[in-house]
Amino acid sequence: MPYDDESTLPTDTAPADALAATAAQARSAVLERLVSEDPGRFRVLTGDRPTGRLHLGHYFGTLHNRVRLQELGVEMFVLVADYQVLTDRDVAEDPAGFVEELVLDQLAAGVDPARAVIFTHSAVPALNQLLLPFLSLVSVAELNRNPTVKEEIAHSRQSSVSGLMFTYPVHQAADILFCKGNLVPVGQDQLPHLEVTRTVARRFNDRYGNGTAVFPEPEALLSKAPLLLGTDGTKMSKSRGNAIALAADADETARLIRGARTDAERHITYDPARRPEVSSLVLLAALCQGRPPQQVAEEIGAAGASGLKKCVTEAVNDHFAPIRARRARYAQDRSYLREILREGNERANAVAETTLDEVRRAMNSRC
Ligand code: TRP
Repeated sequence: MPYDDESTLPTDTAPADALAATAAQARSAVLERLVSEDPGRFRVLTGDRPTGRLHLGHYFGTLHNRVRLQELGVEMFVLVADYQVLTDRDVAEDPAGFVEELVLDQLAAGVDPARAVIFTHSAVPALNQLLLPFLSLVSVAELNRNPTVKEEIAHSRQSSVSGLMFTYPVHQAADILFCKGNLVPVGQDQLPHLEVTRTVARRFNDRYGNGTAVFPEPEALLSKAPLLLGTDGTKMSKSRGNAIALAADADETARLIRGARTDAERHITYDPARRPEVSSLVLLAALCQGRPPQQVAEEIGAAGASGLKKCVTEAVNDHFAPIRARRARYAQDRSYLREILREGNERANAVAETTLDEVRRAMNSRC
């Protein structure tokens, strides 16, 4: 996901990756059309690592898009990737708490638990069991080449790299294929992972499918995620302390925006290349109000940085008021929250067991 703290865009994007990204963009436009024409053809699998509260970058980058797809009528599985948290830390800080916070953020944004299956890795054993046959289908050299994993290792706070770090893209294949997801909304950094999933699906079908496709080859739906910067002008990220949480209240939002970095030019314009900090604030207001950033900048104009901050604060607090209220309502009823997860896990388990049976049958008939 484009705004995730753990996954950053590879800085040394090779020409081949750039080419793949362009191709994925073109394909995504086609997929968008297919989705609106026939949403029933698609099953979306999407997910996040539970590492704390989501912020506005996550909201505009992924949550918003999830809800949009849901409203178009696409079936959706939403994974809380709790095992994936262990790729770069020995123990999750507050596993249960973080899972609940993440689910709250989804529900607040509008993910509907009656339609979407919300579930966690750790509650779906049959999903995890797919990892074993899937691991046999990829080479160590392939695992070693994954640019997103390389980047994560470079930024890891751990002194040694665990086996899970190398193999989690294959685990991610299990995340997607257990429910035969065929559409995965992602940011560019996730494209190499999706390629692993496609490879696993293809090789499984070739080796064990007996002429039929057990798994679909899922496609990436690249998000047109606008890049929101944090209040210090660098990428918005929990770990940098520059993020505005979805769950923040109006006062905290005002305080954070008041402290946001701007520049010395008084007149407000929208010019992301030359004025990244100011433009990101303008963009944030524009996203909240659903209008073009140029228009927002023009209106503020001579009111300068203080006018800009006032406008952004109001825009954020207005837009998020109902979302935050919904979050607070769900947060008050923890037993209902746990019930949502229990039901999601139950549905995910049923699907995973069916798939695992199918995998066993396909494999046994070949050994
Ligand atoms: N890797 C994703 C992230 O960085 C989370 C994730 C886990 C995921 N499994 C997935 C995303 C499967 C899409 C599909 O947050």
